[in-house]
Amino acid sequence: MKEKINKAFAERFNSKGTLYVAPGRFNLIGEHTDYNGGFVFPGAIDKLMMAEILPNGTDKVRVYSIDLNDYAEFGLNEADAPEQSWARYIFGVCREILKRGGKVEGFDAVFAGNVPLGAGLSSSAALESCFANALNDLFNNNSIDKFELARIGQSTEHNYCGVNCGIMDQFASVFGKKDHLMRLDCRSMEFEYFPFKPVGHKLVLLDSVVKHELADSPYNKRRQSCERVAKRLGIETLRDATMEMLDAIKTDITAEDYFRAKFVIEEKDRVLAVCDALVAGDYDTVGRCMYETHKGLSKDYEVSCEELDYLNDIAKECGVTGSRIMGGGFGGCTVNLVKDELYDNFITTAKKKFKERYGHEPKVYPVIVSDGARKFENQ
Ligand code: GLA
Repeated sequence: MKEKINKAFAERFNSKGTLYVAPGRFNLIGEHTDYNGGFVFPGAIDKLMMAEILPNGTDKVRVYSIDLNDYAEFGLNEADAPEQSWARYIFGVCREILKRGGKVEGFDAVFAGNVPLGAGLSSSAALESCFANALNDLFNNNSIDKFELARIGQSTEHNYCGVNCGIMDQFASVFGKKDHLMRLDCRSMEFEYFPFKPVGHKLVLLDSVVKHELADSPYNKRRQSCERVAKRLGIETLRDATMEMLDAIKTDITAEDYFRAKFVIEEKDRVLAVCDALVAGDYDTVGRCMYETHKGLSKDYEVSCEELDYLNDIAKECGVTGSRIMGGGFGGCTVNLVKDELYDNFITTAKKKFKERYGHEPKVYPVIVSDGARKFENQ
């Protein structure tokens, strides 16, 4: 990827910039809890976005996406927003830095990545974090702290991309640490690194390669349901809700809102249970919670789809310890915790059965927990 980017940059801009990278993320447990003030438990993965960037002394940004073979040029004022959706991520990051009083001037950039798009692995957060970190280094002497870098990415989604997301993806992409998961309390923003080396098990993502259209608007609708219930309960977020509280207002809210909130209340407890179980080496509990999350995401939160439910069923049949849909939903991947000795059979069976039903195999990505956004070591 480095050579490809260097070459394209030299051809297009006739000079050499600095390389930066930022990863996608996976999440062991804690889905749709971030915007409810709950806990999440993600890690950065080895798939990343890489950009070569050089200030150009003008007030224009000129950027080329190798993967999309598309070029955008834009100014840095609010009215200069580019048309292309991919370029809006970069424009948004620039604008959010400027809004916070930071400095951004014109630059040239070429980027590429190997985070699969639309697979629920946060390719967009990787792109945002890559540029946020780079512009912090190039123009701000690294004076913007890492939490703010994550928030810059999140605000980009809110204000320029129409997704009212939580903080998990950008947080994981910025703070990722090799061989560690991070338990983040999305209310206090306190977090802890947990060493992650599941003994006797492998963690693997199966990508259904299904992308359901309009994933952004159902996502925002889920968030609105949660906010309505919190408001009805007179609390800031569902972090402070219990099932007793929810049951007490059951007849005042829609059935849909009830089940959305029920999932969130159950999920936030599961994150803590999984962290404890992981420390104790109790993988059966970790796995059981993963299956419970899948069920909740499928039946109560309704963000699964037939293909992901099928992958989950296959995992159960193959004796996989834990399996669940991962990320925002509406397509993408399942994350699976599998005993070493069952791994080969699981992968073979999943590929075969899925292909028989849907005409293509799922893609297989072993999880390799990696470092977060950084200047590329090997310039
Ligand atoms: C998407 C969002 C995150 C989070 C997850 C679901 O990835 O960007 O903020 O809400 O969905 O856990």
